[in-house]
Amino acid sequence: MSDGSLLRCWFFSGKKPETETPARSNEGVIRGRVMGEPTWTREKLRRLVHREIGDYRLIVVSNRQPYVHDLVGGELSYASPAGGLTTAIDPLMQECGGTWVAFGGGKGDLYAVDEKNRIQVPPDDPSYTLRLVWLTEEEQQGYYYGFSNQGLWPLCHNAFIEPTFQTSDWETYKSVNNEFARQVLDEVDGRPAAVFTQDYHLALLPRLLREADPNIITGQFWHIPWPTYEIFRICPWGDQLLDGLLGNDLLGFHIGDHCDNFMEAASRILGSSVHDEYNLVYQNEEPTLVRPFPISVDFEQISQESRSPEVTEEIDRLTEEMKLGGMIVGLGIDRIDYTKGIPHRIRAIGRFLEKYPEYIGKVVFIQAGVMSRTDIDAYQRLSDQIDQELNNVNGRFAHDDWRPIVYLPDDLPAVTLAALRRIANFCVVSSLHDGMNLVAKEYVASRFDEDGVLVLSPFTGAASELTDSVIVNPYATEKFADAICEAVEMPYEERHGRMVRMRSVVEENNIYLWAARLFVDLMQGTRRSRRPVRSF
Ligand code: F6P
Repeated sequence: MSDGSLLRCWFFSGKKPETETPARSNEGVIRGRVMGEPTWTREKLRRLVHREIGDYRLIVVSNRQPYVHDLVGGELSYASPAGGLTTAIDPLMQECGGTWVAFGGGKGDLYAVDEKNRIQVPPDDPSYTLRLVWLTEEEQQGYYYGFSNQGLWPLCHNAFIEPTFQTSDWETYKSVNNEFARQVLDEVDGRPAAVFTQDYHLALLPRLLREADPNIITGQFWHIPWPTYEIFRICPWGDQLLDGLLGNDLLGFHIGDHCDNFMEAASRILGSSVHDEYNLVYQNEEPTLVRPFPISVDFEQISQESRSPEVTEEIDRLTEEMKLGGMIVGLGIDRIDYTKGIPHRIRAIGRFLEKYPEYIGKVVFIQAGVMSRTDIDAYQRLSDQIDQELNNVNGRFAHDDWRPIVYLPDDLPAVTLAALRRIANFCVVSSLHDGMNLVAKEYVASRFDEDGVLVLSPFTGAASELTDSVIVNPYATEKFADAICEAVEMPYEERHGRMVRMRSVVEENNIYLWAARLFVDLMQGTRRSRRPVRSF
């Protein structure tokens, strides 16, 4: 968090109500009890949750569900969707139990649930309940493809895609948030509960929950960046979004800059009273604790899985099939999204081969990725742009049976992705803007051999932690090409030293530490005041 005095004075637009207790920082609990121990584990998180949760039930709410069911030829199957959400929250739920409420977007979902729209997950070893919410095609268009992904997504990412704000999408967004509130309240059923909402699809939910049942503890994690005031204020309904989010007791972002941006918007748009020194925003004399929680991965699990015989077999298969023997291999793994800087990366590889022709025929870059939000024009345009850039680079440099870039826009199995991470001499994450970027942390976690180079955009949240990566601006093609060359030529001692340091950062700041810090702030840093319950 910025603690500059100018910023503090500027934010300090009201008096802190005396009836409220300043929010407690969780540093004491986290440091005192556990930071001295080597790493956070599932088991430690489980113990912490059991100690803190008392009679409260944990309810996670998100748009995307952690297990999507498909129906092919009468057979039900399931898969975990791509992206950081499931990676981060599923381990937490597996340890804590409780209920996850999400939109049922899979073709087979209706067949998988019981009469109350619930199913126990993970399907192979159930430990918590998934409750699905059904949305009509029209609702999905207005709420998910419309307001969330053509309004808020480009608004929050500096990728120079203009956000579009349609009144009808906004109306649908509001009504879908109301529908989620109805379902969550049904799940809570007047009992003590802590509701942990995810992301930008459900910004209005916390206020709706608080109004209906003030006893619910409300927390939210915003998985994407929060833009500056100058950008945020172009949203026609920004005041309502802010007010919805300030129905949270706790609001988390990845990094301090996003917290500062949020607090500035609340102060300047709503006139909320912001107490920078406590990370508190008061709206209607009710506090919201706004803090950074840099999200992470399950370091131990990724590291272990990466060593498995299945991954080793897959490495052999891929090396033979893709003729990777003796090649220097680069890797990109992304959801195909315009924020990820994929065309910029391809251009930089082209420039690298132009500038350093000695690597023609010696370097192969594998770009894996899963298609995403393809109903939206900007994503279709991105797909065409990627094809053009690929044709350009492969067209100029490919010879015999060697191509510089192999594009695999498929939903690849986890074992294949794990094998690719191990094969890759270097991994490129070139986001134009990204809240965190877990691909970077997954690459580091998977390199138990303590080798490999990460080339990373400074516009990711991960760049503030992974300072031993090769940090390069994806817009600066010339420097980007040089950074690729640096990764390719980096001597073993340096690669090893950097990777060891990055691994210790990710090992220490793993997903369980993230969850523990959030959980303690949620359960201890909140008001827990008892207010009259109003029917919803
Ligand atoms: O990164 C933000 C995010 O919403 C993640 O939480 C999620 O995993 C990812 O984008 C994927 O988005 P979608 O659910 O639209 O496919």
